[in-house]
Amino acid sequence: MTAQIISGTEVAKEIREELKVEVAGLLEKHGVVPGLVTILVGENPASQSYVAAKNKTAHALGIHSEQVTLAAETTEVDLLALVDKYNQDPNIHGILVQLPLPKHINEANVLYAIDPEKDVDGFHPVNVGKMVLGEQCFLPCTPHGILELLVRSGVQTSGAEVVIIGRSNIVGKPIANLMLQKRSGGNATVTLCHTRTKDMAAHCRRADILIAAVGVPKMVTADMVKDGVAIIDVGVNRIGMTEAGKAILAGDVDFESVKEKASCITPVPGGVGPMTITMLMKNTVQAAKMAAKLI
Ligand code: GUN
Repeated sequence: MTAQIISGTEVAKEIREELKVEVAGLLEKHGVVPGLVTILVGENPASQSYVAAKNKTAHALGIHSEQVTLAAETTEVDLLALVDKYNQDPNIHGILVQLPLPKHINEANVLYAIDPEKDVDGFHPVNVGKMVLGEQCFLPCTPHGILELLVRSGVQTSGAEVVIIGRSNIVGKPIANLMLQKRSGGNATVTLCHTRTKDMAAHCRRADILIAAVGVPKMVTADMVKDGVAIIDVGVNRIGMTEAGKAILAGDVDFESVKEKASCITPVPGGVGPMTITMLMKNTVQAAKMAAKLI
């Protein structure tokens, strides 16, 4: 069997078309323009390219977007003051502070300072708590994107054995939580594996849906998966540079060998990445609608 490729690029395009119409309608009917600010501290090349992609997508959808780039030496106090400035700004509905932050800045202090109603990343404890309870909130963008990819690609999650590798706050923990909830893309039996898991391969081989979010290039190999598995590869690992200076990317899954056993698989790039950005746009539009009391 050779796997069907789940194109995040295509699914993201479909959702972006829907959002474009919604954004145009907000302006026409209500005079509302959703606004997003991205804040990047330092010069991490991967973060620079993610933030640039987020701003480019926002512009393309008619979302107002501001990009703030700060020196790596910026103090926590100065960053908190900037967050507070945008908390007060009525034209900004979503605030995104790109992670990771430099070591001298306490990430939690910064994330907790963002107004939960502008927390389009879904990282504030208020939103995390609501997510766990299954209440209406901003869902974190990568897990939300994965759910949309699965649902829109017709992958059955109800009753499925889902195995997730990686327990990060950004991906592993929230996707585990969402997939066990009684919701679209949920109702699965979930196993969350991590660095202390005994016999990771044995867990992976049970999976109907395998989600890899570890940051280790090509860690999941063909001998670790069963025939017919659906694979979601969240990893974006830079494994080299082309002569033209472009990053060569690899996922956490050994795509070439695993695709011969899987029923469907997301590529890297062009899988989860475009979905993450698209769900950020969706959250920004939701934030603008909430601020205008339209929802
Ligand atoms: N760094 C890696 N992924 C993310 C994300 O989804 N949001 C933010 N703010 N930083 C990230």
